[in-house]
Amino acid sequence: MIPSINPLVLNLKESATLHINTTVKKLRSEGRKVNHFGFGEAAFPVPKLLQEGLIDHASHNEYLPTQGLLELREALCAYLKKEHQLEYTAEDVFIGPGSKELIFQLSYLVEGILLVPAPSWVSYGPQAAMRGKTLIPIQTKRENSYRLQADELDRACFEMGQEQKLLILNNPNNPTGSVYTEEELKEIAEICRAYNVIVISDEIYAGIDFTGRPHVSIARFYPEGTIVSTGLSKLFAGGGYRLGAMIIPPTLQIIKDSLSAIISETFSCVSCPVQYAALNGYSRFDELREELNTNRDIYRYASEYLWDRFTAMGLNCPKPEGAFYLFPDFDNYREKLKAHGILTGKALVEKLLLDVGVALLPGSDFYFPATNLGVRTASVDFDGKFVRENWPGRDGMNEEWEKKLFPSLIEGCDRLEAFLKNL
Ligand SMILES: Cc1ncc(COP(=O)(O)O)c(C=O)c1O
Repeated sequence: MIPSINPLVLNLKESATLHINTTVKKLRSEGRKVNHFGFGEAAFPVPKLLQEGLIDHASHNEYLPTQGLLELREALCAYLKKEHQLEYTAEDVFIGPGSKELIFQLSYLVEGILLVPAPSWVSYGPQAAMRGKTLIPIQTKRENSYRLQADELDRACFEMGQEQKLLILNNPNNPTGSVYTEEELKEIAEICRAYNVIVISDEIYAGIDFTGRPHVSIARFYPEGTIVSTGLSKLFAGGGYRLGAMIIPPTLQIIKDSLSAIISETFSCVSCPVQYAALNGYSRFDELREELNTNRDIYRYASEYLWDRFTAMGLNCPKPEGAFYLFPDFDNYREKLKAHGILTGKALVEKLLLDVGVALLPGSDFYFPATNLGVRTASVDFDGKFVRENWPGRDGMNEEWEKKLFPSLIEGCDRLEAFLKNL
């Protein structure tokens, strides 16, 4: 029997990030040594405080309200007010099984065109495709560290005409590791206001920021049209806990009503013990601050190590300012790569994975053209628990510690360097 499948889903493949992870695991199980720069999972253990919240509430088997546990929503609002200067009430918060699912539900229920800066996270596109939505990538520039500029958005909105527009802006950014400045966000907010663009501000990496500036959300400058998306997966290293949150302002009441209805007809609510784990994280954030700051310093060290090595190899790469990614490009090697029959980003990463043993993702998975030679690099191929237990602090680091704490990052860079030298 060949069941007939929804045509919008039929051609959908496993997400590029999850696929590379499966491929690397398979190669490693066959005995291949692979430096895994392909998957961006938080490197550290989930804080004990969250684990305790989960364990203490393991006996709670009740369904919770569709929007989520009231105390959790209140704690998240207090956290957002103190840490991000955002004013919301518990009525505005929706808890879901990961921010990915909430972004999908939102793009499912809101009509119109989806705008994303290119490069942007791999899943926005397939999610839009499943709903038959048009996705328009807006090409950004390397000299702006791939951050969307207001004039680029203005042009795209103007060309799009009257149709309703939804923009997903991810800050700090996957795949580039860049962080928007307050000025850039203010300018983008003005354009969004002028064209009535609904913004999903994907802030899943908020708090993993190396700039020393406090996190700034575009919601500060465009509160009436911005939906903030966040969760446990990155800062709290709780990806597998599957808890995300979306904060929708009262001005978008019709979206809140529709999202409530969809949740009640689909996942109903997030696992009750997991919501208590999150409650501990947000309500007792001060107790976690030091641990999370150390994690951030380690992410920073790893990202900057890769950046130093990449730029020394002649790759073009904006300096990472947050999250755990870099986006180097191999443009300076285009002619040499061409001589080896490598003309596309996909061909390049295939070569690097199979012949060099370094896993990366091509720019084309992030809405760049096939010939773009940018690659998404995750900087978390290290044993976070071990690194944190032995971390001598940024000032205590030296070559010897690097070898001990980040052997796979070093080996991956050595392999890339040797490959480029021998081209
Ligand atoms: C940019 C971005 N947004 C959203 C997510 C989804 O996070 P989660 O569903 O775990 O909350 C990820 C995960 O990798 C991401 O990189």
